[in-house]
Amino acid sequence: MSAPWWQGLDLRVLRHVRGVLRRRELELTLVEHRPAEACSYAAVSPQAPNGAGLAVIAPTLSTPELGLIEHMLGEAAADVASALAERVAQIEPPGARTSYAGIVGSSPAMLELYSLIDRVGPSGSTVMIAGENGTGKELVARAIHQRSERRDHPFIVTNCSAFNDNLLDSELFGHARGAFTGAVSEKAGLFDVADLGTFFLDEIGDMSPMLQVKVLRVLQEGTFTRVGDTATRKVDVRIIAATNRDLSAMVKAGQFREDLYYRINVINVELPALRARRDDVPRLIEYFLGRHSNGGGPKQLAPECFAQLLGYAWPGNVRELENEIERLVVLAGDAQIIGAELLSPRIRHHVVAEPAPGEPGSLPAAIEALERKMIGAAMRRHSGNKTRAADDLKVSRRNLIRLVQKYELEK
Ligand SMILES: Nc1ncnc2c1ncn2[C@@H]1O[C@H](COP(=O)(O)OP(=O)(O)OP(=O)(O)O)[C@@H](O)[C@H]1O
Ligand SMILES: [Mg+2]
Repeated sequence: MSAPWWQGLDLRVLRHVRGVLRRRELELTLVEHRPAEACSYAAVSPQAPNGAGLAVIAPTLSTPELGLIEHMLGEAAADVASALAERVAQIEPPGARTSYAGIVGSSPAMLELYSLIDRVGPSGSTVMIAGENGTGKELVARAIHQRSERRDHPFIVTNCSAFNDNLLDSELFGHARGAFTGAVSEKAGLFDVADLGTFFLDEIGDMSPMLQVKVLRVLQEGTFTRVGDTATRKVDVRIIAATNRDLSAMVKAGQFREDLYYRINVINVELPALRARRDDVPRLIEYFLGRHSNGGGPKQLAPECFAQLLGYAWPGNVRELENEIERLVVLAGDAQIIGAELLSPRIRHHVVAEPAPGEPGSLPAAIEALERKMIGAAMRRHSGNKTRAADDLKVSRRNLIRLVQKYELEK
């Protein structure tokens, strides 16, 4: 038999109902019409009381028990109906998606990301987003919030590396009056503000061990205390954390709490570097040209300018690309066509790997050849030490490991 049609619809009520039923060794079933057997039944649509719905067939239960289950099913059926309506509204043929909640891209990696957000968003789970600078971690966190039941509540962002420890403590958790010099009045923290919503903790790897403990407590017990205060406060906040550091290595080095690491790593979302999804570059260019066109129609790129942008490796990822396009639009002034001479020097002068004579001039092939060559050389230089090779090449260790595997460069 195929999987039940509600599988994958993450519904708290439904899960609750199923838990109760399991304890009584009863099964939830989908029926097209109300069956003749003794059962509890709730139609998914009030317009079709004898149409499709959730049923529990249980001839051995007493009438009051059946009534109770029917009542629970009623709530679950309403949830199923609205989740289904939402899902139907979103269904597009696969491959047709070119963007998602402001995230632009239609490469396989991005399509996979969109479907992951579809599933992760409503789940309410804690999420860890990993990715290099400028890959869109905050954008994705926002999309997950939008896709969740918390969407009408706050989405709060804090960059944990932007404050010193004491400031971050009072920023996140608030402080009591007189907690420290200058604390003239009591102040609520961002966790108070984020109640019922989502908290995006960026650069969580930069958080001190003391604050790691406080965050862990929010995750485990939903409680915290303000700086200089003893009262315990309760919050209901979903945490999404991000980092561009290698947290598992930090755990091994004793710089990041292992318990917190496992608690936030419930669902791991890895954002691809832009160079790993080059097919998206033209679409992103078009998107940013449109976004940064002020008044007049979007400007266009001269062919050489476009080619240089396509060949560049984008170590700063989408953020670097966006900044470059904004810069080009400004520098072009009234001109409608943007020439290559306006490009930033590092992009104008980078050498696009030339195909060897007689080789087909495929850009991805040339990039792969260059990647293979540079990574192979760095691995040899550092006797196979990936951390040092990654440092040398200015890529993340995670990324290097992936490429070493891809090109089979492990000695
Ligand atoms: N896929 C994308 N589509 C459209 N815009 C994007 C995409 N990815 C990133 N951006 C844009 O690039 C900029 C950087 O994105 P964001 O701040 O989400 O990245 P980040 O991973 O949090 O970066 P950092 O690590 O530097 O904080 C933003 O202006 C964002 O709107
Ligand atoms: Mg960010």
